[in-house]
Amino acid sequence: MATAELAGKHLVLGMTGGIACYKIAELTRLLVKAGATVQVVMTEAATQFITPVTMQALSGRPVYTSQWDARVPNNMAHIDLSREADAIVIAPASTDFLAKLAHGMADDLLTTLCVARECPLLVVPAMNRQMWANPATQRNVAQLRADGVETLGPDSGPQACGEVGDGRMLEPEAVYEAIASFFAPKVLAGRRVLLTAGPTFEPIDPVRGITNRSSGKMGFALARAAQQAGADVHLVAGPVALDTPWGVFREDVQTAQQMHDAVMRAVPDYDIFIAVAAVADWRVDHTSDHKIKKTADHRLPSFTFVENPDILAAVARLPHPPFCVGFAAESGDLDVHGEEKRVRKNVPLLIGNLGPLTFGRDDNEVVLFEASGQKKLPRADKQALASTLIAEIAKRLPDTSLIS
Ligand code: CTP
Repeated sequence: MATAELAGKHLVLGMTGGIACYKIAELTRLLVKAGATVQVVMTEAATQFITPVTMQALSGRPVYTSQWDARVPNNMAHIDLSREADAIVIAPASTDFLAKLAHGMADDLLTTLCVARECPLLVVPAMNRQMWANPATQRNVAQLRADGVETLGPDSGPQACGEVGDGRMLEPEAVYEAIASFFAPKVLAGRRVLLTAGPTFEPIDPVRGITNRSSGKMGFALARAAQQAGADVHLVAGPVALDTPWGVFREDVQTAQQMHDAVMRAVPDYDIFIAVAAVADWRVDHTSDHKIKKTADHRLPSFTFVENPDILAAVARLPHPPFCVGFAAESGDLDVHGEEKRVRKNVPLLIGNLGPLTFGRDDNEVVLFEASGQKKLPRADKQALASTLIAEIAKRLPDTSLIS
């Protein structure tokens, strides 16, 4: 998980009454681990679900529950607590609390803090599906959005009451991601990014196939960074064991041909294409419908290979191609092969992995190849590197006003 966006941020985390309060323990842990300071403020109702002691231990700061708290020397808790805040996050945000916020009420510490704030306000609704669907709640949420309040979620699924539907709180990891996203510089606002990631799997028979060691981590990190930078992101993924980054549209494929077809279908709607996938160059000409068995005379099977389409080159050849970015993992002479590959694929930017052994690792070191020359970036965690690469890509884009 990236920490850069949240390091040094000061958050007021407001908790209101709801069973989802127990999930805020984990959210607090994630935020603190990312380097944010978290000032927890709880409503009276929230303290019925989880204790201030727990929240104090996790946040490492005293928890406030009352406007009349004697620990605040000037008795101005409602102003002091949010003065330094980069944002107030209300999680869980109950039906009642959303109603109060929408009407500008200020009858306890947390509502007063929200009304008296100068920083952004993010709310994470959590409630039963009927409460969420209630026209009054919907009216209140619409009003809050119109007032510039950011709403994260809710999610859909099984609820504490045993029912299934919209209203449940986003999982703590998703709330964390959404908060990190909120703080990331929006260098790709209004842009649409299509990516490929992971390996492909080329079947030989129903149980065997050819694949490679790509973990998909770099492609997924880039998809996440692009989403956080404000882009609409479509990720075409080969077989990988990774969770979909929050807010990213993911399409799973197996073979290079399927990846090619998915990309070619989607690409007219995108203005940036980042090909990170380690696409198999060849596939077996005729796959067998049944498992290939050993023979009594120990005859070895033989296969004929045919070449797979080059997805990146195909996109770059389109009459109006998006801004294309390629990746290259070479086992040697990156200086020569990187630039040669960029020219051969006819892309403005190619990112070369320094060293062939980055598969599955969490860090990476890369060189950027472009017509004007090469630029090496320092070794970094893949997610931090992804944010740097997104910023580098953003700098090279044509003016938005020129994009139809
Ligand atoms: N690529 C692609 N489709 C392919 C092969 C590669 O889209 N069939 C893309 C990769 O996603 C990457 C770039 O092309 O962005 C370079 O991939 P790489 O495997 O290094 O290049 P190849 O063209 O396969 O060259 P070679 O294997 O000969 O090094």
